Amino acid sequence: MTTPEFDLPPHFRFGMATAAIQIEGATRADGRGVSIWDTFAAQPGRIHNGDSLDIATDHYHRYRADIADLRDCGVDDYRFSIAWPRVVPQGRGEVNPKGLDFYDRLVDGLLEAGIRPVPTLYHWDLPQPLQDEGGWLARATAEAFAEYARVVADKLGDRVRDWLTLNEMNVHTLYGHVLADHAPALDLGLAAFPAAHYQLLAHGLAVRELRAAGDFRIGVVGQHYPVIPASDEAADVEAADTFAALTNWTFADPILLGHYPAEEIAALVAGTAGLSAEQLAADLEIIAAPLDFYGVNYYEPVRIEARREGKDYSGVLEVDIPADMPFAPVPFEDGPRTDFGWTISPSGFEDILNQMRERYPHLPPVVITESGASFHDEPGPDGAIHDTRRIDYLHSHIDAVAKAIANGVDVRGYYVWSALDNFEWAAGYEQRFGLVHVDWTTLERTRKDSWHWYRDAIAAHRDRSSSLTQA
Ligand code: FCB
Repeated sequence: MTTPEFDLPPHFRFGMATAAIQIEGATRADGRGVSIWDTFAAQPGRIHNGDSLDIATDHYHRYRADIADLRDCGVDDYRFSIAWPRVVPQGRGEVNPKGLDFYDRLVDGLLEAGIRPVPTLYHWDLPQPLQDEGGWLARATAEAFAEYARVVADKLGDRVRDWLTLNEMNVHTLYGHVLADHAPALDLGLAAFPAAHYQLLAHGLAVRELRAAGDFRIGVVGQHYPVIPASDEAADVEAADTFAALTNWTFADPILLGHYPAEEIAALVAGTAGLSAEQLAADLEIIAAPLDFYGVNYYEPVRIEARREGKDYSGVLEVDIPADMPFAPVPFEDGPRTDFGWTISPSGFEDILNQMRERYPHLPPVVITESGASFHDEPGPDGAIHDTRRIDYLHSHIDAVAKAIANGVDVRGYYVWSALDNFEWAAGYEQRFGLVHVDWTTLERTRKDSWHWYRDAIAAHRDRSSSLTQA
């Protein structure tokens, strides 16, 4: 294996990312409340193989070993999420000190290991009692989120400076609210717009609370992808633009520009949420609060065509877009894929970063808050996991970031999804995204070849940077 060299700025930061539901387990420990994912996962047929999230990687009890893996790899930053139902089991009101203590220990452990903690306050695990009162379709949920953000900041803000509010509001809206592939499985189609708006408002209200609580660096995370029309025909190009507006820009424009991407979308939001023009404008002002950084998650580009009458799109992609939408996702004809079936396209990564820079004149510094791939490699006869495809994937995607930087996008860091194999939502444990392998019977952790490669990449970058800054 050759030592990787990347043309990145000296202070570029390397990290890894995880999320509470996907790794913690211990769902009934120390007063944790029930989340919408516990409810969803308990329903038959929702999760591949009937996998349960009750134990996951048992990170709740094994976090010290997981911190040692991060430390030995040499990461600068660790992005994890805080489980709202652990901290405020009912969603609002009474705080559970034992839940907060877990994150207190985690943060101390990271700092002792020389790693900067970068918590996400919401990675899809809404407390079930809030769902019972309307979840993200209700304005009160946004207000409860701000209250919870304050509780966490008051506890950890003396040691944590970097905060991410919500993870991928676009994916949470699409999979969990427009469709029923993720919790809370509402299947609302376009009537899901309030879920987008109230998550955005939750973000804005939380930024306000965090600013009042301390001198923090605050960001938010979106999953973004280039949307490629299936042909040059006007109808396909228009369908691709509409899809991009609904999935990328409906979530990023309000934050970075202070408005929805089109009048029709603003009207749909106001109509479905029952908001007057004045209320909508007041909310947008809160949502557009200035940020210190913006988190981009990237996995793959999406190919879209105008929906053809009578054509059956079911099962073409992982997600079935409702038949009343004017667009449909279609697969890229050939080219490499991960074991999850996702298209591998580092140039798509460069594209979307360039698009973000062009679209947003005041784009704050970007951090790649997730990038990675599922490959199913298992330990070989020598006990090692030779996941060379993941190494190639990471190599080409970090290169894509370096190219985007050369093109003027201010990217400050790159976090691999994920630190260790984990519970991949509806896909359960079959999909392995980790740099560290987890044996699902014994929960034993084994560092994959990609982990060693990443460690060498980080070390090489440090050496190169110190010689550059000394020169
Ligand atoms: C993203 C999620 C993350 C992980 C990756 C593979 O959409 O934010 O939790 O599951 O996909």
